[in-house]
Amino acid sequence: MEKILEVKNISKKYQNQNGEVIALENVNFRVNKGEFVSIIGPSGCGKSTLLSIIAGLEEKTIGEIYIEGEETTGISNKIGYMLQRDCLLEWRDILSNTMFGLEIKNNKNDESKKYVEELLKKYNLYEFKDKYPSELSGGMRQRVALIRTLAIKPKILLLDEAFSALDYQTRIIVTDDIYNILRKENITAIMVTHDISEAISMSDRVLVLSKRPGTIRDIHKIDFEIENRTPLNCRESPKFSKYFNTLWKELGVDD
Ligand SMILES: Nc1ncnc2c1ncn2[C@@H]1O[C@H](COP(=O)(O)OP(=O)(O)OP(=O)(O)O)[C@@H](O)[C@H]1O
Ligand SMILES: [Mg+2]
Repeated sequence: MEKILEVKNISKKYQNQNGEVIALENVNFRVNKGEFVSIIGPSGCGKSTLLSIIAGLEEKTIGEIYIEGEETTGISNKIGYMLQRDCLLEWRDILSNTMFGLEIKNNKNDESKKYVEELLKKYNLYEFKDKYPSELSGGMRQRVALIRTLAIKPKILLLDEAFSALDYQTRIIVTDDIYNILRKENITAIMVTHDISEAISMSDRVLVLSKRPGTIRDIHKIDFEIENRTPLNCRESPKFSKYFNTLWKELGVDD
């Protein structure tokens, strides 16, 4: 399999009023093209810090990040980022929200506009293109946020608790939708979540971080052996609870 991302020997120290905080220590992993990898771990162990470093939004103290074999420093065009808040602009309609990333990158043209319109059509949002974010449900807003991110054609999508603001039922449906979109568009994804079930149902591998300073404690391969896998049918698989118990125990261990 082709490797798309390599996180090598990453450590991160923050300075604050009370001295220094070591957020991450010696984090190493690789992600293959098209893979879906989740990161779980105790609160404050450095998960968001790790994603920010991969995105180039936060500086690392030690280590290197390679994307498609090239070392990257700073913000990479190859990366899209989705957060818990959808960050849609309330005064812009849906179409112009989805064009926003392209505008920032000075990449708004007929071709990119056509691509965005195709994505909106493909994922059943085109008829809402003239509406405003406040007229959409939380799940639809999150899909709009995804399309805004996909518009810049990222190779790797980073998701930080991207679904945790949604109510439980919406969350199940939206994760299924988004998983299917990412698979269709062949996007590599790295997702931070507190929800073990969400991690298992969406991922090819789950990375477990230790408590702070976060380091990789274990990497679990998730394989449901289901054709046409979706998060929903994984949740119904007999293997689901086996994975859940393993990860639950591992997160509960304190050392
Ligand atoms: N800008 C910053 N300055 C100083 N310390 C920071 C900064 N950002 C994060 N930290 C500290 O680094 C550690 C890791 O934070 P981070 O937000 O990455 O954890 P997390 O695993 O995402 O937590 P959560 O599960 O609560 O989202 C925490 O102790 C936090 O207080
Ligand atoms: Mg976080």
